Amino acid sequence: MPSSPFAQSERYRYMNGFGSYHESEAIEGALPIGANSPQKPPYGLYAEKLSGTAFTAPRHENQQTWLYRILPSCGHSNFEPRESATYNTNPENKPYEKIHHIPNQLRWDPFDLDETVDWVHSLHLVAGAGDPTMKTGLGMYIFAAGKDMDAREAFYSADGDFLIVLQHGVLDIQTELGRIFVRPSEICVIPRGIRYRVTLPSGPVRGYILELYQGHFQLPELGPIGSNCLANARDFQAPTAAFDEDTDSEWHVLCKFAGHLFQARQRHTPFDVVAWHGLYYPYKYDLGRFNTLGSVSYDHPDPSIYTVLTAPSDHAGTAIADFVIFPPRWLVAEDTFRPPWYHRNTMSEFMGLITGQYDAKTGGGFQPAGASLHNVMSGHGPDAATHAKASNALLAPSKVGEGSMAFMFESCLMVGVTEWGLKQCRKVQQDYNAESWEPLKPLFKRPGAGVEPGNGEGKAKNGEIGDKAQVPHWTA
Ligand SMILES: [Fe+2]
Repeated sequence: MPSSPFAQSERYRYMNGFGSYHESEAIEGALPIGANSPQKPPYGLYAEKLSGTAFTAPRHENQQTWLYRILPSCGHSNFEPRESATYNTNPENKPYEKIHHIPNQLRWDPFDLDETVDWVHSLHLVAGAGDPTMKTGLGMYIFAAGKDMDAREAFYSADGDFLIVLQHGVLDIQTELGRIFVRPSEICVIPRGIRYRVTLPSGPVRGYILELYQGHFQLPELGPIGSNCLANARDFQAPTAAFDEDTDSEWHVLCKFAGHLFQARQRHTPFDVVAWHGLYYPYKYDLGRFNTLGSVSYDHPDPSIYTVLTAPSDHAGTAIADFVIFPPRWLVAEDTFRPPWYHRNTMSEFMGLITGQYDAKTGGGFQPAGASLHNVMSGHGPDAATHAKASNALLAPSKVGEGSMAFMFESCLMVGVTEWGLKQCRKVQQDYNAESWEPLKPLFKRPGAGVEPGNGEGKAKNGEIGDKAQVPHWTA
């Protein structure tokens, strides 16, 4: 079965489908029939509308959800600023000094686990572009937490949609719309504004987040591929309605707003939605279900064939954010340099590794829980050792990436790196370029006696099935 071999059993039930209109009720009859806002909703519930797009967004983009809850979410104390030394999500793009826009290729050692903080205080902005107040751009975060959020605490981001890429541990996420259980190799998207509480049933967690300040994620167009493959819509899972009844306790609602943390108090649980229906909801997806495509003749297709989700800009085919993965797969292309080509990209590429061995560079510098950033027009590609090996590899069918899962956040925007990302985390590898590409030697020979113009020399000598020289794109 094309699914990931999870160590932990699933805890909850879901509704399947991406972009599907879902409805769910925890008590039969809690959803009004026909009307969205009847004079008296069933069982004395309040109706509340949650808008993920402008009311008047085109029908194919429009995302609204109706909630039927014990108390509406508007009753709470004033929000007060709540900052702490561990909280670091402010884009700080005004003034610009705190963001470093630099052309160097960057690579990070694995980020540390941190058992002293909960979900909210584990968020560290590493890089980003744009501004949540203008609903433009994106932020890229590392999270590492070891504590449950407090029992009566909920969090939401007013700034954007969180795409959570879990690298270590398990997340049990109680959302307003129901519960989601997230294990490594699963991703979870929690749209802007939806309140949730994160607990850690298997101890410390670590991973990556892409926060999308504008629009929402969608499945990529498939063009000539047809109507299936890549991430199939039926494999995305939305929670079913589940509610608590608590109108006595004091709850704290934490809010990320323009990158800053605020807190309000209220005397009712935010998790009191008995029923809901609509198109705006959190969901998860098992990356093991991705239907990977590739060349069956020659050459290396662009890595866009590995796109799971995309968030388009206003320009067709150009994404504010693409979420791309590099799963295990067969390479069969003939007479082809199978690793990625050397390239410079008008897009920026932030990469991470969920699991597996980085087998492309002899130094092993790209490790699980680490990262790399190849910014706009910063050259990259296989390191010298990989180039030498792949240029001589036997081009038999070869399975690459077994037990491995790398990913990329690709953006049309030039991303800046935060103080934390560049300095305070102390994970930047200073010799990334020197180790990777400076050792490349010229192989050029002018035509003359004994020199043929053919496709290289001495190819197909050393390789064998499973040869690590025949590496996937994430060697770039
Ligand atoms: Fe690349």
